[in-house]
Amino acid sequence: MPSCDKVIKTGDYQLTSLITINQIYQEDCVEFMKKMKDEGISVDVIVTSPPYNINKDYGEYSDNKEHEEYLDWLQNVAETSRSILKDNGSFFLNIGGRSDKPLLPFLVAQRFEKAGYKLQNTIHWIKSVSIDPEDIGKSNGHRIRDNLSVGHFSPIVSERYLNPLQEYVFHFTKTGNIKIDKMRVGVTYQDKTNIGRWKSATRDKRDRGNVWLIPHATIQEGRPHPAVFPIKLPQRCIELHGIKPGMLVYDPFMGVGTTALACIRLKANYIGTEIDPQYIKVAMEQISGRIEQYLQGDEDVLI
Ligand SMILES: C[S@@+](CC[C@H](N)C(=O)[O-])C[C@H]1O[C@@H](n2cnc3c(N)ncnc32)[C@H](O)[C@@H]1O
Repeated sequence: MPSCDKVIKTGDYQLTSLITINQIYQEDCVEFMKKMKDEGISVDVIVTSPPYNINKDYGEYSDNKEHEEYLDWLQNVAETSRSILKDNGSFFLNIGGRSDKPLLPFLVAQRFEKAGYKLQNTIHWIKSVSIDPEDIGKSNGHRIRDNLSVGHFSPIVSERYLNPLQEYVFHFTKTGNIKIDKMRVGVTYQDKTNIGRWKSATRDKRDRGNVWLIPHATIQEGRPHPAVFPIKLPQRCIELHGIKPGMLVYDPFMGVGTTALACIRLKANYIGTEIDPQYIKVAMEQISGRIEQYLQGDEDVLI
């Protein structure tokens, strides 16, 4: 069995002789998952965003595989992941694409089905949106004169394509029949008379649905990584699966540690893999900064 000699140590405690919890490993995710399987480790949630094969400028990784090779690779990731995911576990796969590769997310989803997963939910992650004033007024009685725009809008560079403002989060499970905690991520009723109107509406929370508006934060300085997701995205996925004491979350493509930060917020355990040492370094800095904030009494970092 290969040894974890490239471990960057920050972990909490040794889970097995080779693997420590709350740690990011500089390893290929497929090789690492095989190691997890050999060590008998199983996880509650996998949440991740793989490279999209759109020529993004990563450090170590070349994001330009042959089309079929790329799909085969992600199918292999999916197949291997099934052996470490608990039977009632959830795999949340965030995938977008490029305007000239509109089918890419669906082709990847199809490969996950081939690997034995069932697509239980399709979540639309909306990064930016504009709502016309009359539509805002219609739904909640607010009056504004201009449209309401949330998120970032890059300049229009194409005469053919609309600006892509959305990505997918596919929720895969082994059976397609796993109970999720919808109310944990629910929203309050705008019209409170709905509470009690239906048998199921016993409190001021309703199903949020599968359209999630989560804008990217505005970044003032240079980006340490070209393709991060906002912390709220993995956080909401993990919460939707359901929070259990001692739960373990794995992100095969950890990047600069966003999933780890979400886990720290939720007091969930994590393991991550990432092949680029530079990104792991940034992740470790972000993680220790957050833990320090907490130790200095800022409880908000865990909310
Ligand atoms: C879309 S990014 C993930 C970003 C992450 N969600 C974040 O917020 O920081 C994909 C990452 O996968 C990494 N990667 C590519 N191939 C990998 C492999 N075989 N095993 C582990 N990581 C890999 C890349 O270096 C890149 O950082």
